[in-house]
Amino acid sequence: RRAPLLAPSLLAADFGNLQAETERLAGSAADWLHCDVMDGRFVPNISFGIPVLQAIHRHAKQPLDVHLMIEEPQHYLSAFRDAGAQNITVHYEACTHLHRVIQQIKALGCNAGVALNPHTPVWVLEDVAADLDLVCIMSVNPGFGGQAFIPNTLRKVTALKELLVDSGSDALIEIDGGVTRDNASALVEAGADVLVAGSFVFNSPDPVATLAELRAQLMA
Ligand code: DX5
Ligand code: ZN
Repeated sequence: RRAPLLAPSLLAADFGNLQAETERLAGSAADWLHCDVMDGRFVPNISFGIPVLQAIHRHAKQPLDVHLMIEEPQHYLSAFRDAGAQNITVHYEACTHLHRVIQQIKALGCNAGVALNPHTPVWVLEDVAADLDLVCIMSVNPGFGGQAFIPNTLRKVTALKELLVDSGSDALIEIDGGVTRDNASALVEAGADVLVAGSFVFNSPDPVATLAELRAQLMA
């Protein structure tokens, strides 16, 4: 099995010091930097958008894993690519023409991801699974950091793993929301390839040490 990737979410970082926050992660165990874009429409919160992503990209050493919690993402894909996104993840629930959006992301040279809200079953991805680079299972309702992990997520990881194998898809399984040292090992055991963690990392006394500990825990 591949070693799981760690993707700290900058949503929980100090927005007044994004350069310092991004730079201190440069030598850390972070594999990707997870960037949460919220539009106040798809989710009941507004975070940051294209210019801020561009600023993060100027100081980042790791690939930017961009999670679009926005309606009509098709209008902004090339702008996010130009701002430095390597992975662009759109929500299943926000895309009437999901197949087209996935092809558009790939045509831009980015990795294509689809995120599923907690109520959305994994089987809705059956007919696009082979085209995907990443599936993000939301383990909280999107919109806010610091929420409690929804335990049913573990079952979804198992079901998704099965679906990806059956579809011949090598998409990575990413878990987003409420990830801590207490559920990380079980998630990886169930088949998770990428763990996003916001408040667990940034609300700890030493985010870089917390990432190193998490990495060590998952290697053991
Ligand atoms: C939730 C975001 C998550 C969030 C995770 O809407 O998509 O990426 O930042 O934060 P924690 O780890 O605090 O749940
Ligand atoms: Zn996210």
